Amino acid sequence: MKGVLYYFSGTGNTKWVADRFKESFKLYDINIDLVNIESAEEISIKPYNFFIIGSPVHAEAAPKIVDDFLGRLPKEESRLRAIVYSTQGAKSAAAASIVSKKLEQKGYNVIIQSNIAMPNNYYFGVGRLPTENMQKKMLEEAVEKVEILTKNFIENKHIKECNSLFRRVIGKVSEKAYRSMLPKLSKNITSTKECSKCGLCLRNCPKGNITFENGHAIFHSNCILCLRCIHICPINAITYKGKKINQIQKERAKSLNLNK
Ligand SMILES: Cc1cc2nc3c(=O)[nH]c(=O)nc-3n(C[C@H](O)[C@H](O)[C@H](O)COP(=O)(O)O)c2cc1C
Repeated sequence: MKGVLYYFSGTGNTKWVADRFKESFKLYDINIDLVNIESAEEISIKPYNFFIIGSPVHAEAAPKIVDDFLGRLPKEESRLRAIVYSTQGAKSAAAASIVSKKLEQKGYNVIIQSNIAMPNNYYFGVGRLPTENMQKKMLEEAVEKVEILTKNFIENKHIKECNSLFRRVIGKVSEKAYRSMLPKLSKNITSTKECSKCGLCLRNCPKGNITFENGHAIFHSNCILCLRCIHICPINAITYKGKKINQIQKERAKSLNLNK
């Protein structure tokens, strides 16, 4: 048995959880190939016995980059078994439920749909800064949850968290409003004079949205507010609304295997 896990991860949480899924399935002698949606040119499902997709939550729903991937995903004739998970700062969100519905429309058999709480990388926009202790606890709980989900999937037991139609409707309304606000929100990201032009943000922006002009990093209009640039900057020179942020994702962003 072999699975494939497609993920998008702005700042490392969703990839960190993907790594935990890989470890957890390994305990059952099952291998999972991890594929970053950003570099998935050809989508190949045929060699696999099951499918997993992981996404962060941006304003209740999955970011558009995940939707675009789902649009390209081939239709499934053999009712391939699937796991859908989201990572978000809160305990629950509509994203996984919305993604599951899209997969089911394509013929996938979603066995597990789960919301895995992880540190909120956008605490300076919504919510509040998670303390070191809160982060540690969330990571421990995430590991336990992944192990439980893996066991249930192997035993073919269905889990559908946050599955109400009401929440999906809220999620879609929120997604639409948020996406229309993105161009304005992304203008909050700027670099300071301290920027050393190392190019790490530029090389790793999922949308190729950053260039250097006149000695400054310029953030263009294609931003999806994944916050990778802010959290990975080696000298914390990228600000939000002119303020430096606490780069709480530094450790987990290592799981992204950035282009150095
Ligand atoms: C623009 C934006 C919007 C977010 N909206 C929500 C939200 O609606 N609910 C929530 O619980 N977390 C929200 N978050 C927090 C992230 O979903 C969470 O930190 C996630 O685990 C980040 O995953 P990543 O590191 O793989 O990108 C938001 C984060 C960003 C950047």
